[in-house]
Amino acid sequence: VGPRARHASGEHHLTVRAGPLAAGEVVLLVDRRGRRYLITLAAGGVHDLRGGRIPHDVMIGRDEGSAVESSRGERVRVFRPTLAEFVLEMPRGAQVIYPKDLAMMALWGDVYPGAAVVEAGTGSGALTMTLLRAVGVAGRVFSYEIREDFARQARRNITRLMGEPDTLTLRAHDIYDGIPDAPMDRLLLDLPEPWRVVPHAAEALRPGGIWVSYVPTVPQAAQTVETLRAARAFVLIDTFETLLRPWNIEGLSVRPAHRMVAHTGLITTARRIAATPAGEPS
Ligand SMILES: C[S@@+](CC[C@H](N)C(=O)[O-])C[C@H]1O[C@@H](n2cnc3c(N)ncnc32)[C@H](O)[C@@H]1O
Repeated sequence: VGPRARHASGEHHLTVRAGPLAAGEVVLLVDRRGRRYLITLAAGGVHDLRGGRIPHDVMIGRDEGSAVESSRGERVRVFRPTLAEFVLEMPRGAQVIYPKDLAMMALWGDVYPGAAVVEAGTGSGALTMTLLRAVGVAGRVFSYEIREDFARQARRNITRLMGEPDTLTLRAHDIYDGIPDAPMDRLLLDLPEPWRVVPHAAEALRPGGIWVSYVPTVPQAAQTVETLRAARAFVLIDTFETLLRPWNIEGLSVRPAHRMVAHTGLITTARRIAATPAGEPS
């Protein structure tokens, strides 16, 4: 049974499939210069690579890493994309969080298998997919989005890579109005005014629950931290950024790459404390 049929029956593949490539799967073609092309394999389909044709049928049934040639003699290798590769190549409505930040948010947010997690806004679904992977088949991800067009694009992206995970609930909901899904183990935010979520987070996060927010500018991070402090419901409030510097290693040229992504955003984490029993010092 190919992935299409499995999606249709409501099944999903949160874990990456192994074995020969099948129709319905999303794959990445990588050329000699490292350029990447994301396509979904379809029986009888044809990919146009700079005027050369690559029939999908020559890839279906082959192993990942196989080399195939276009009708103009250009060679590419075909792989299932990693989540990081998929996120960078998939169609976007809203700006996605970069893989370097997704990785940090998942680990610094301690998103674990079986966790109940709430996220806003869904955007293009990059963080949503990262969370789905991290919570696994026993977890739950509730993702809120106010823009219908972005939610639609996110759903398309998620379905293309993962089918229809029954661990995911997408809601058309404004998180500034509250968090209807509670109690939650983790809360992750990528929206303009995360501080407006602090009172709702204090209610929805269980004791020990973790807040993670991502914002592009310093004033946004400062207002988030000040609001978290003032709420007196959170401790261990930290803010950091991630700088990822690729290296060039070729013969004698062993040096940092000339270019890197200089700035993406600031990540703030915080821990929900337990309510103080009456009569005890807070
Ligand atoms: C930068 S995008 C999120 C991108 C997403 N993290 C990703 O990696 O694909 C921010 C999203 O938050 C949504 N948004 C803004 N305010 C919101 C709110 N109050 N409640 C829910 N979603 C909101 C926006 O419509 C937008 O889609």
